[in-house]
Amino acid sequence: MKDVCILAIESSCDETAAAVVQNGRTVLSNVISSQIELHKLYGGVVPEIASRKHIEKINQVIEQALEDAGRTLEEIDVIGVTYGPGLVGALLVGVAEAKAIAWAKKKPLVGVHHIEGHVAANYIEHPDMEPPFLCLVVSGGHTHLVVVKDYGEFEILGRTRDDAAGEAFDKVARAIGLGYPGGPKIDRLAREGYARSIAFPRAKIAGAPYDFSFSGVKSAVLNYLNQHKMQSLPVPQADLAASFQAAVVDVLVEHTMAAAADFQMDKVAIAGGVASNGALREAMENACAKRRLQFYRPSPIFCTDNAAMIGVAAYYEYKKGVRHGWDLNAKPNLGLGER
Ligand code: KG4
Ligand code: ZN
Repeated sequence: MKDVCILAIESSCDETAAAVVQNGRTVLSNVISSQIELHKLYGGVVPEIASRKHIEKINQVIEQALEDAGRTLEEIDVIGVTYGPGLVGALLVGVAEAKAIAWAKKKPLVGVHHIEGHVAANYIEHPDMEPPFLCLVVSGGHTHLVVVKDYGEFEILGRTRDDAAGEAFDKVARAIGLGYPGGPKIDRLAREGYARSIAFPRAKIAGAPYDFSFSGVKSAVLNYLNQHKMQSLPVPQADLAASFQAAVVDVLVEHTMAAAADFQMDKVAIAGGVASNGALREAMENACAKRRLQFYRPSPIFCTDNAAMIGVAAYYEYKKGVRHGWDLNAKPNLGLGER
């Protein structure tokens, strides 16, 4: 088959990103313009500001991605774009841009599911990796344990009942006063703390062994902080961060290992922003080694939002024959496995 060069665009949240990916595995460029500094001022992502920033940056980001890849638009075969889930105004910028380029240059258009992109990030640095495998998807908006049956084909085994893992990191970080985005800050601070100093709850859901709940551990952290405040006691921040992180990581690893055993999976992967967490990567790697399971994880730059992962997922959709029309729209609530 002839080489397929994809220009991929991602704008579902607060990163404006474009990448050029060849044959679904080779990343020729990966440009990410982060808005984090801007949203920090407000303690979280402000959707309207995100949309406005995307429209300002998107052309430059795409130009840079083409330049870094040494490709012109004429040499691109397919335009891939995230169309959901995410912030509607933010998604619309990427979708409109992708449609305009595809229309003007008469290229096929492939809409990509953002979470499918996160999972596909694993293929970039593991050229021989193929489905089926078990994947834990942990991002700011999603926590899913899935069997990846084939490219873009998922069987959902478990999901969060309340907060996503990344959301819990962000909320706890804000409560401790670390600011936005919380995940990387807790990750860093936790390295100086003792993970067993405070016993936070590890939630189990009766009858749903692969589901998650993080609202309990979040409330426990808030109660701990309130009690210390009322008694004017100093808060051991690093110990608190390490203990909270351990509670989340323990549950993520435990449920993933249970699913691997129950479904006889010999390959385990992690994906999404929280998959860049140092403690999770280490704990999952150790748990897999102990059980002789093959463990896969993307480099941190491919865990958090990026367009390279969208280019990879777009390639496998394209190969399946997926083509979107000029009526492609943003789908902010697109569920995993939905189109
Ligand atoms: O996948 P992502 O970039 O965007 C979504 O699709 O949501 O994930 C962002 C989430 C945020 O909640 C952020 O705090 C979390 O991933 N995150 C981390 C780390 N880096 C990012 N959580 C824990 N440890 C990290 N190192
Ligand atoms: Zn994401």
